[in-house]
Amino acid sequence: MSKSILITGASKGFGYLLAEKMLDAGNKVFCAARSLDQMQALKEKGGHIIYLDANDPKSVEECARTVLEKGGVDVLVNNAGFGLYGPVETVPQAAAREQMEVNLFAPARLTQLLLPKMRQRGSGRIINISSVAGRVYSPMSAWYCASKFSLEGLSDCLRVELKPFNIKVVLIEPGPAKTDWSAGAKASLLKYSEATDYQNFGEKSLKLLASATDGAMSSDPSQVVATIIKAINAKNPKPRYLCGKMSRLSLVSKTLLGNRLFDKAMLSQLK
Ligand SMILES: NC(=O)c1ccc[n+]([C@@H]2O[C@H](COP(=O)([O-])OP(=O)(O)OC[C@H]3O[C@@H](n4cnc5c(N)ncnc54)[C@H](OP(=O)(O)O)[C@@H]3O)[C@@H](O)[C@H]2O)c1
Repeated sequence: MSKSILITGASKGFGYLLAEKMLDAGNKVFCAARSLDQMQALKEKGGHIIYLDANDPKSVEECARTVLEKGGVDVLVNNAGFGLYGPVETVPQAAAREQMEVNLFAPARLTQLLLPKMRQRGSGRIINISSVAGRVYSPMSAWYCASKFSLEGLSDCLRVELKPFNIKVVLIEPGPAKTDWSAGAKASLLKYSEATDYQNFGEKSLKLLASATDGAMSSDPSQVVATIIKAINAKNPKPRYLCGKMSRLSLVSKTLLGNRLFDKAMLSQLK
């Protein structure tokens, strides 16, 4: 049966591919992001294009209003996000707040605004695109981890709160995948560690990040999108879906090693 879906961050990466596939399958798709020009092809396929700056609460509210005026959605995919990397000591508070606004508060606000209509209908699905970095930490990724760990906590609470209303909440936890995400993460890591006491650590972290996102262990985005589609269509979706080549390995290593040994293993990779 065709569904009505809002996908944030639909201008590229996972969001674009997902929007394309959902439109091809005959669904009504709201595609939201800042880069309207990059969503023209989705518009030609029948997508409803919406300007969204997730860092601006007014824009988030305007996006929800547009969607509600057009009937609301069965599925909300909170996908828009970026990776802020760099040492906690040097990353400016303003940058950290933007990270939390886009990756945590915008998905939470869209959820708040679209929920009443879902509850009225007696069904709905909220898919939050987290990351394996929502469960496994690494140095120089503190604010990104903070945003995704928070999204995980919020989604777990929400899943239980919404059970009586027949609204399902799902977390998608990709490992590194080949999208433009890595360019932003690498640029911020360089920007905030260069010419500081963290420069050496930063350079080594950058190499490690680049090998994870650009190397053989990085997944094709279509694999992640296939998992999102599975979560959208499953009758009884799992609370969380780990996906991509490195995610399970990272989580198992962290769980089996415990914090002290896991810290040591990470530091040994940064020598
Ligand atoms: N790629 C990976 O390795 C990886 C791994 C785990 C999790 N993830 C997560 O997956 C999600 C999608 O990432 P991706 O890999 O597809 O990255 P991407 O190719 O860089 O795409 C990011 C999308 O988010 C949107 N976005 C960023 N900032 C925004 C803002 N302020 N307002 C509205 N939209 C904004 C971008 O649109 P505009 O710039 O046009 O606004 C774009 O459509 C993110 O939440 C990311 O954290 C990615």
